[in-house]
Amino acid sequence: MQSKRSIQTAIEADRSSPASISVEVERARTALGSKGSARHHLNAAGSALPTSTTLRAVIDHLVLEAEIGGYEASAAARPRLEAVYAAAGDLIGAPAEDIALVESATVGWRRAVDAMRLAAGDRVVATRTTYVSSALQLLELERSGVDIDVVADDPDGRLDLDALEAALDVPAALLAATHVPTASGRVEPVVEIGALADAAGVPFLLDATQSVGQLPVDVGEIRCDALVTTGRKFLRAPRGTGFLYVSQEMLDRLRPSAPDVRGALWSSEHDFELAETARRFETWEAAHALRLGLGVALVEAKETGIEAISAHVSTLSARLRARLSEEVAGVRIADPPGSASGIVTFVIEGEDPQRTQERLAEGGCDTVVVPASHGLWEMQPRGLSGVVRASFHVYNGEDDIDAVIETLRG
Ligand SMILES: Cc1ncc(COP(=O)(O)O)c(C=O)c1O
Repeated sequence: MQSKRSIQTAIEADRSSPASISVEVERARTALGSKGSARHHLNAAGSALPTSTTLRAVIDHLVLEAEIGGYEASAAARPRLEAVYAAAGDLIGAPAEDIALVESATVGWRRAVDAMRLAAGDRVVATRTTYVSSALQLLELERSGVDIDVVADDPDGRLDLDALEAALDVPAALLAATHVPTASGRVEPVVEIGALADAAGVPFLLDATQSVGQLPVDVGEIRCDALVTTGRKFLRAPRGTGFLYVSQEMLDRLRPSAPDVRGALWSSEHDFELAETARRFETWEAAHALRLGLGVALVEAKETGIEAISAHVSTLSARLRARLSEEVAGVRIADPPGSASGIVTFVIEGEDPQRTQERLAEGGCDTVVVPASHGLWEMQPRGLSGVVRASFHVYNGEDDIDAVIETLRG
C-alpha cells in the first residue's frame, strides 16, 4: 500500500524481528510503475510490480516502433538490446554469450531439455520441487521410456541430500532441480546439489525462476550447467520475458531440436551451422520492447542490491509467518522449517484456501492459491491440496502484513 511508513521503522520497533533491513520501502514505492494502487500486492512470486523506469522503457519502445517501424526501432535500440545479455549474465555470474533471451522460464527449460535429445533408457533425476510444466515434460518423456527418478524429501519437507547423492550414484543424463519452488518458501541447498552433480558428472539444470532477483545466484558457485528464469517475478520485468543460461561446455553438447534463423546459419543445400553462443536457443522474432524492460529491471535489481532485497523479503516473510501463527487462529504454515525466501505459504484449518484467498482479496490483499497440481511432487507427500501464497518485494512493508492479519482475524 502507498504508505509513508518505512519497514526500517517498523522493524526497529520490533526487537524480536530477524535480520536487518536495508531497502527503503518508501523509495521503492515512489519508484513504482503502478502509481496509486490502494491494494496490498503480495504476489511478487506471481508477477511483481515493475518500476516506472522499466515500464517507461517498454512503452517508449512500443511508441518508437509505431512511429518509425519495428525493424527501424530495433536498429535504433540495438546497443541497449545487446546490453540485456550482459546484464542478465552479470546478475548470475555468466558471460553474455551464455545467455539466450526467451519468453518464459518454461520455454527456456523446454528448449534446453529438448536439445539434450533424451531417449528411452536415459535417466533423469529430479527434485520434488520441480515446477508443474517441467514435471509434465518429464512425465511425457517417461512415456517414451526415459526413467524419471524423483528424489525424496526428508519428513519435514526438505531435500534429502543423502537420497540425492544415492540417486546420482546411478548413471543419469540430467539432474533437474529448483532453487525456490512455486509452492513453498523453501530454498533448496543449490550449492550442495551442484557439488553432488559435479562429483557424479551429471549435467545440472537449475530452475531459478523464483530465486533470481530475490536471492544471490552465481552459476559458478552453484556449478550448474544450465539455468532458467523468468522476468516477471522477483526481477520485476515485464511478463513474457525470461532467460536461459547454458555453460560453454554444455552448449557443445546441446543441439536445439528446432533451430531458427536467429541461432543458425543456413550455409548450404543440406546443411547449416549453429550459433556458437547460447543464441542458438533463440527465435528471431521477439518482443523487443519487453526485452528492453527486462534490461532495465536487471540493472535496477543489481543497483538495489540482491543481498539487500534478499534480507528485506526474507525478513518480511519471517514476520508474516510469526504473526500468522501467533495472531490468526487455526493457521498452519506450509513452508518447511528454515524456509528463507520471500514466499510464505499457509492454510487455515477448516477453510478452503480459495476462500482464504478471497477473504484476503476482499480486505485489499492480493495473494494466490497454489493448488497441489502445480507442485504435486512436493505438496502431495505433505498432505497439502492447496496453499495460500503471499510473496514480498521491496515495495512491501509491515503495513502489508498488518492488512493480512487484520483481514484474516476479521
Ligand atoms: C519454480 C517455477 N519454475 C518455473 C515456473 C514457470 O515460469 P514461466 O511461467 O515463466 O514459464 C514457475 C512459475 O510460476 C515457477 O514458480
